Amino acid sequence: MKKLLLAVSVLLLNVPLVQAAGDAKRGQELYQANCTRCHDTSVHTRPNRIIHSLDGLKKRIQFCESNGRLNWSPEQIEDVAAYLNAKFYKYKEVP
Ligand code: HEC
Repeated sequence: MKKLLLAVSVLLLNVPLVQAAGDAKRGQELYQANCTRCHDTSVHTRPNRIIHSLDGLKKRIQFCESNGRLNWSPEQIEDVAAYLNAKFYKYKEVP
């Protein structure tokens, strides 16, 4: 019964069980539409990268996003973090 309840609440709340908090696909679209004005994705693979943790990545996204005056919600920042982390940085999600 407990298992059933859990399954139902996961369905209702649409909680992703394995995925990172953000939606990487939505993040990719957001990135391509808004983030390539100043740099392309090669900054994320440069040898002297300035990002060293998932938290640092999110902070940097927030910094760049507010520099670009995009007014993003925390969800949009999570989505782009999920995208960049899955594609380039590959830090472990801290639960
Ligand atoms: C107004 C210009 C500008 C915009 C728009 C911008 N960035 Fe940046 N971003 C920069 C600059 C400049 C750097 C490099 C800073 C440095 O070398 O110290 C950078 C670096 C970064 C880095 C660190 C790269 C690394 O690993 O060293 C990340 C992550 C990043 N940007 C994400 C984003 C995201 C996500 C967006 C879209 C919301 C975005 N940026 C939009 C200017 C911008």
